[in-house]
Amino acid sequence: MEIKNKTLKNGFSIPEFGIGTWQMGGRYERDISNDDASDIQAIKDAIEMGVTHIDTAEIYAGGHTEEIIGEAIKSGNIDRKKLFITSKVSGDDLSYDGIINSCTASLKRLGTDYLDLYLLHWYAENFPLEKSIQALNDLKNQGLIKNIGVSNFGLEHLKDAVRFSKAPIVCNQVHYNLRVREVVYAGVLKFCKENDIMIVAYRPLDKGAIIQPITQILDDMSKKYNKTPAQVAINWLISQENVVTIVKSRDRKHLEENLGGIGWQMAPEDIEKLDLEFPSQVMVSDVVPLE
Ligand SMILES: NC(=O)c1ccc[n+]([C@@H]2O[C@H](COP(=O)([O-])OP(=O)(O)OC[C@H]3O[C@@H](n4cnc5c(N)ncnc54)[C@H](OP(=O)(O)O)[C@@H]3O)[C@@H](O)[C@H]2O)c1
Repeated sequence: MEIKNKTLKNGFSIPEFGIGTWQMGGRYERDISNDDASDIQAIKDAIEMGVTHIDTAEIYAGGHTEEIIGEAIKSGNIDRKKLFITSKVSGDDLSYDGIINSCTASLKRLGTDYLDLYLLHWYAENFPLEKSIQALNDLKNQGLIKNIGVSNFGLEHLKDAVRFSKAPIVCNQVHYNLRVREVVYAGVLKFCKENDIMIVAYRPLDKGAIIQPITQILDDMSKKYNKTPAQVAINWLISQENVVTIVKSRDRKHLEENLGGIGWQMAPEDIEKLDLEFPSQVMVSDVVPLE
């Protein structure tokens, strides 16, 4: 299936649906008991089904997740140029040299000579943001990364990042779904819309908590559109201006289901109804920004 891109006014373009890779190959360290073959196959399956946007980070499985993606690309004979790969530098070292070294190591593990998008994984007050942003700009000028962004940034730090950067900050990757609305209440979504920045919404199913147990409103919407609850949750995100999403799935059936969350349009009044009436909304993300 063809997955549409969303494009900002500044020209930055990103597929509206991508796959996440957190917990492929391990959590913060490589898990040697993990069945890497299944993860590699899941990535190949996703690409075969039309997914081109792959999200990862240097801290996933201590770098091994990037190696798994690299292996999927290599063994699947996949044309790198058709993919959109995002990686992130850990907030544990956002020094200028640390960022340059991290990027080089990520490229090596992924087996590629550029990233489509490179993000500061989270804000870290020990490192002057201006210097970190300078490193991202220099990596971009060298052609090692195509675009610059941030992740888990609150409004003030996002504003600073925009101010410090010569190249546009094209993305803030954040925890956003039907339940977790921090970006809305903190004004981040509004700022992104007004300043031509894409929100990449991670954890769109809140690791399954949004669809299990099923809420009445999601059940009603599923019946109305003849879609599953997961498909409605994904569609609610990508129906919004300046929002795309990444879902992790190693299960082929889940991936097929999730892809059914795109390619159709929910009525504006139903988007608004879900905005207002989805129960148990939380204003603060509970994610440790390491994932
Ligand atoms: N920037 C950050 O700090 C940050 C933080 C968290 C996540 N992320 C990124 O965002 C990606 C997505 O977030 P996430 O992995 O935390 O959560 P998620 O995508 O909301 O949920 C993934 C979990 O839901 C299951 N699942 C997927 N589709 C399903 C379906 N249709 N029905 C039932 N269960 C389903 C998956 O199981 P199966 O594998 O068995 O399908 C997996 O256990 C991550 O992988 C990562 O790349 C970034």
